[in-house]
Amino acid sequence: MTQALTTTATPAINPLRTGMRNERTPEPCVMVIFGATGDLTHRKLIPALYNLAIERYLPANFNVIGFARRPLTDEQFRESLVESINHFSRRRPIMPEVKDQFTQTIHFISSDFQNPEGYQRLSDLLGKLDQEQGTQGNRLFYLATNPSDYPVIIQNLGAVGLARPQRAGSSAWARIIVEKPIGHDLESAQQLNETVAQVFRENQVFRIDHYLGKETVQNILVFRFANSIFEPLWNRRYIDHIQMTVSEELGVEGRGPYYENSGTIRDMVQNHMMQLLSLVCMEPPINFDANSVRDEKVKVLRAIAPLDTDDVVQRTVRGQYGAGVIFGKPVKGYREEERVDPNSVTDTFVAIKLFVENWRWAGVPIYLRTGKRLPKRITEVALQFKPAPHRLFPQTNIEPSVLTLQIQPNDGISMRFGAKVPGQAMQIRPVTMDFRFGQSFGNVATDAYERLILDALLGDSTLFARRDEVEQAWTIVNSITDGWKYLMTPNFPNYESGTWGPKEADDFIEKDGRRWRRL
Ligand code: BG6
Repeated sequence: MTQALTTTATPAINPLRTGMRNERTPEPCVMVIFGATGDLTHRKLIPALYNLAIERYLPANFNVIGFARRPLTDEQFRESLVESINHFSRRRPIMPEVKDQFTQTIHFISSDFQNPEGYQRLSDLLGKLDQEQGTQGNRLFYLATNPSDYPVIIQNLGAVGLARPQRAGSSAWARIIVEKPIGHDLESAQQLNETVAQVFRENQVFRIDHYLGKETVQNILVFRFANSIFEPLWNRRYIDHIQMTVSEELGVEGRGPYYENSGTIRDMVQNHMMQLLSLVCMEPPINFDANSVRDEKVKVLRAIAPLDTDDVVQRTVRGQYGAGVIFGKPVKGYREEERVDPNSVTDTFVAIKLFVENWRWAGVPIYLRTGKRLPKRITEVALQFKPAPHRLFPQTNIEPSVLTLQIQPNDGISMRFGAKVPGQAMQIRPVTMDFRFGQSFGNVATDAYERLILDALLGDSTLFARRDEVEQAWTIVNSITDGWKYLMTPNFPNYESGTWGPKEADDFIEKDGRRWRRL
């Protein structure tokens, strides 16, 4: 049964927006969140919507429908969301003066994802909101459930006619955001993409990768293509190699069953690191529209040849954390984590060497490393330059110049180069030139989900992964996981929590005459 609406009947002019104008204002619409009682909704989606509302980015007539199995009333659902905002929002607690305005536009439908009747109720409620709240037939669906529920939700949306604009000839739109993981391997990703494609056209589909919502990640494109001084150096003539690090001090945080199934390579490499890599290595797009940017990104992924078993031996290292110490506190090993197999062979660390085989990057190794329970949380991409072609100062050992794109937590860009130590001797030491977002722009911390939800409301898919990108990234990752199947599993656990991963990860880069950056 459709839950009673408790909103006022007159089409709402969002009072939070009164008198304000933003350059990016979406059209009126309803956002429908499947999996509305889950973690993602509470930790990320609702706080993001709340912050967008406060900043007056939401459209005038905006409503949310939560769809989940739990038997909640609208009121109970709203109360649970207020608590989440109080806990997880970057602005908290919820402002009393906006609380009612914000929550009264939120509704709840309790239904099994399999049950067509629930989708009929959803359709009725959407129709009603269009009439009463002026939401104009526009819908943004968000899949925030367990991925195994995605196909049945998509098919039911199709069956009840919600995947297409509601009125013939109208400009109303329907879009769907699909959360990661998009599949577990290439085949399951293709299957999911196929299921989506049977119901939605590609331009209605928004595959989210929250790394693309980070300011610092978007800034990679600005840094490279809004300035002319870096791009001439951004290639094999000047760059010796690239190191990409995504390290976390966190463990698996109660997500044992999910992690057992994915491991670091699927959790971090297939999506976030491949996205970073394509932004760093892509050619300039002809313009900044969604397909021009994504065309260039996918070309990078296509230029990475899948690894054969030999390559997998030579160019990959996997690790799993044992017990250790993080920030002075003892932590347990992965195999002792809740709901993890005590003999698990899941990777919690990987290091990989890849090559982008095209004119710009031929022969430039790109080293990726990512892991849980490393000493600290850092995401960065470092481009190390070749030594000067002629050694004019042979008496001193000159460290290579390095340009670092710091994604988090100290977001900014640093350039390290050699400088003369003042004094009579010719001594050279590395110094850095730093740009920090915080210093230059004040506090800019927004959440990636805010940006990405806003873009989806606006219909801008530039910062979302296209089908071919996702599948191409899987092709690379699959070649590695397939190789691992034929090889002996390393003797896990092979690194202590609080260290920089297994010793093999050092050997693997050192045999190339290079070193991981000390972070
Ligand atoms: C998620 C992974 O996609 O990204 C997590 O599932 C990981 O395991 C997280 O911790 C890292 O995101 P961020 O934004 O904290 O770097």
